[in-house]
Amino acid sequence: MKYAKILSVGHYVPENVVTNDDLTKFIDTSDEWIRERTGIRERRWFDPDKDTVANMATRATRMALERAGMEAKEIDFIVFATITPDYFFPGSGVLLQRELGLQGIGALDIRNACSGFIYALSVADNFIKAGMYKTILVVGAEIQSSALDKTTAGRSTNVIFADGAGAAIVQATDNPEHRILSTHLHADGDYAEELYVRDPGSSRKVRLSKELIEGDTFKVHMNGNFVFKHAVVRFEEVIKEALDANNLTVEDIDLLIPHQANLRISEFLQKRLGLPDDKVFNNIMHLGNTTAASIPIAMSEAWEQGKIKPGKLVCLAAFGSGFTWASALIRW
Ligand code: UT7
Repeated sequence: MKYAKILSVGHYVPENVVTNDDLTKFIDTSDEWIRERTGIRERRWFDPDKDTVANMATRATRMALERAGMEAKEIDFIVFATITPDYFFPGSGVLLQRELGLQGIGALDIRNACSGFIYALSVADNFIKAGMYKTILVVGAEIQSSALDKTTAGRSTNVIFADGAGAAIVQATDNPEHRILSTHLHADGDYAEELYVRDPGSSRKVRLSKELIEGDTFKVHMNGNFVFKHAVVRFEEVIKEALDANNLTVEDIDLLIPHQANLRISEFLQKRLGLPDDKVFNNIMHLGNTTAASIPIAMSEAWEQGKIKPGKLVCLAAFGSGFTWASALIRW
């Protein structure tokens, strides 16, 4: 078995819908501003009595398993992308493993923010190609809403980020016609502090203190405009890298699924690449930006809508904290 293919996808989002008008009750913003600058109409924020990162991932996985008509016990490895694990340690991968009843198999956690799912997919693709595993569960799941500054001071992040989970079952195959063609991973640590959560940082003399908790370093900090400008350049670059590596052109893409950072970023990219509306998938309008979960949720929704079918060329691309950026080309 020389290749890896995506066998099935699934997703789960919390039931709790937060509209732009809901946000105006506690921050100085407007539905009009949020729609115009981000494209978002509503997002899902978790219910602390019901949702955890691991159990949302479990629900997404169960959907993917059901669609594939297979049982969890066929999974022989887990790669879990999240920057919001349920515990400081261990990562949520082992919690998902436990919930699926798969005690004993390996579980790897990946912390590459918005690019996390593509990094995770790349690990799965290459573990399978190396012959190490046959069926790998790759998930992206996040609870961002509990880390947001829910005051007007945090309005450039609290209107964007949201919660959810997506899963993909990646499996070994001999068939070169339906497989992950390639993955491309990049990072530039010069920009680590342009989008980050500083605390609880282990390099502090005292990791948790009253002063720290009263400050704002536990919240998401983003230099929005700066991130935006880098994102549009890197998205295009990494998509072209993937196409070049496979001797393909933009015209060959059937569906581009960009990480759902901001609708304006997707639209800018679409224009730069000259892609028609039906070849770019966006769901940020109703789900916001769910970091590592955004691409697998979008894949699952696109599959539900019949936009992903055997033979289609699907391009995934992401950019986010790190900075990290990545792409994947999949012949479904
Ligand atoms: O997913 C990982 C990667 N993340 C991204 O790629 C996100 C990239 N960045 C963005 O999406 C955008 O930069 C934001 C949506 C975060 C901000 O949009 P922007 O068009 O870059 O706005 P800005 O930060 O330049 O702010 C413009 C104005 C400011 O007011 P003044 O200084 O011009 O008076 C902000 O205070 O808009 C104000 N503003 C808001 N107003 C109402 C910022 N956030 C809000 C808000 N509601 N929520």
